Amino acid sequence: MAILINNDGDCSQEWANHLQPHLPEYTLYCYEQLSNTDAIVEDIEYALVWNHPAGDLRRYPNLKAILILGAGTEHIDHDSTVPQVPIVRLIDPEMSRDMAQYALYWVMNTQRHYDTYRQQQLQHRWQRYPAAAAGDINVLIVGMGEIGTTIAEIFQWNGFVVTGWNRRPKEVTDIDCRFGFDTLEPALSEADAVVLCLPKNAHTIGFINRQRLAKMKPNATLINVGRGAVIDDDALREALDNETLDRAVLDVYSEEPLPSAAWYWQHPKVTVTPHMSGATYPRSAAKVIAANIRRIERGETPYPIHPHPAHIKN
Ligand code: GLV
Repeated sequence: MAILINNDGDCSQEWANHLQPHLPEYTLYCYEQLSNTDAIVEDIEYALVWNHPAGDLRRYPNLKAILILGAGTEHIDHDSTVPQVPIVRLIDPEMSRDMAQYALYWVMNTQRHYDTYRQQQLQHRWQRYPAAAAGDINVLIVGMGEIGTTIAEIFQWNGFVVTGWNRRPKEVTDIDCRFGFDTLEPALSEADAVVLCLPKNAHTIGFINRQRLAKMKPNATLINVGRGAVIDDDALREALDNETLDRAVLDVYSEEPLPSAAWYWQHPKVTVTPHMSGATYPRSAAKVIAANIRRIERGETPYPIHPHPAHIKN
């Protein structure tokens, strides 16, 4: 009974160290140390992967499931040869909380003028500015998956007026949530801050386009913690230059690392961070992964299952 760990060909040992106490009966193999012997290949029942080489997962004839070492799926979606076993995303509550704190930090930074006060401090200047109370600030979370829902809850606990939006209806308790494209533009037009929490897929590429940006309030902040391709870059630049949008805080980009020639770096209304809003912590993620392996072993469904394009087509 064995588990393969391939964290982008790197640092798999750290994952192994955190996983072993939760799964003591399994032998854990790090991809970078694995030799091509049949005995090992046949022993492997679970593959834990991030950015694995396409085709590699076909090597393990007794694979029961593939567990992704992150929330995003584009690395695995590119591999059309994945075997027909359940593919499970990693939703670690600590990562979701990190992403919520990131978004909260930037909304509060704008709301409470923290950047301005820092600048004033350098000039020994004492001047207060009026700040809206959290209860007067509307925050819209676009994409109410597991992570989006956590972000919405954390804003709500902090007193903000929160609305969630999701393309497909789903049950969300305690958050005022709108569903479907008809409700999107009205929700955008009411928001003081919009937090994008969308994956990259056929429905979301270029999702924040000219027309949707035009609905936003000119003093609004747009925060993207999902995937860069969700924003039409040219349309965003126009909105910022034409002052129909106040600020963009971006953690994700169509191309990563963000190329040094990208206009985002020097735009005064853009904050750039290097895809760090939600870290994956092997310590906490190991518990989530082990719980999913236990579920599968009991004949239960792991959570959340990722509908891989190659599985849907077949
Ligand atoms: C990070 O972006 C992830 O998908 O886990």
